[in-house]
Amino acid sequence: MTYKLLAKIYSRLRQTISKIRALFYRIFSGIWFRKIGNNCCFYGFPRFGYAFRDIQLGEACSLGVGLFLNTGENSTIKIGNNVGINDYAYISAVYGIEIGDYSRIGEFVSIRDNDHVFSDPNIPICKQGFTGKPIKIGSDVWIGRGVFIGKGVEIGNGAVIGANSVVTKSIPPFAVAVGSPAKVIKYRQEKPQPREVISI
Ligand SMILES: CC(C)(COP(=O)(O)OP(=O)(O)OC[C@H]1O[C@@H](n2cnc3c(N)ncnc32)[C@H](O)[C@@H]1OP(=O)(O)O)[C@@H](O)C(=O)NCCC(=O)NCCS
Repeated sequence: MTYKLLAKIYSRLRQTISKIRALFYRIFSGIWFRKIGNNCCFYGFPRFGYAFRDIQLGEACSLGVGLFLNTGENSTIKIGNNVGINDYAYISAVYGIEIGDYSRIGEFVSIRDNDHVFSDPNIPICKQGFTGKPIKIGSDVWIGRGVFIGKGVEIGNGAVIGANSVVTKSIPPFAVAVGSPAKVIKYRQEKPQPREVISI
């Protein structure tokens, strides 16, 4: 009985602290986030590549600890409403990354829209610049833990990506894709119909 009560108090306290953290970023919106919606929970303080860049967060999003967000001077990270991002996710946008409403990003996921250029073997890779393309993750997408999503990938609404997959090619809506490189193994419905994700 006492443990149940203490667990309830702890959970409420944790939730309140996470909302206060999000409020801190809302008050100083413009510095780290260009926009933050209401009712977000931050379970830790995110780490940022730069300040005063274009990172937009929708309403009621939940961000885990150890999250890293990096944006280039002319790129945007746009996260929709009710998105959950688990601990130690890494999101780096030089060209632009979008995550749709209700999507779930597992722990240790890495989403990077850019690669080092390595075409010249006589110059150190780190001095050859970057190449890439924007990434678009649809609504109600579930990305398992440890997944890597690379440049130019589009993941359709309602898709599921299995744990530890390496996604280098686009994945159609409502597909379940697994492995390295990620391949579609089935669809969540027998004949996938083009449909919008229903808002709850
Ligand atoms: C993909 C997943 C959702 C399972 O979906 P499912 O419909 O139940 O699929 P099954 O378990 O029936 O697996 C189907 C096949 O894919 C394989 N498979 C499943 N997950 C896989 C993965 N992550 N990587 C490689 N292969 C995988 C299975 O071994 C099976 O192969 P087989 O047909 O040769 O036996 C689950 O395996 C997964 O990766 N979950 C993510 C969990 C997670 O990361 N949670 C934390 C983040 S919120």
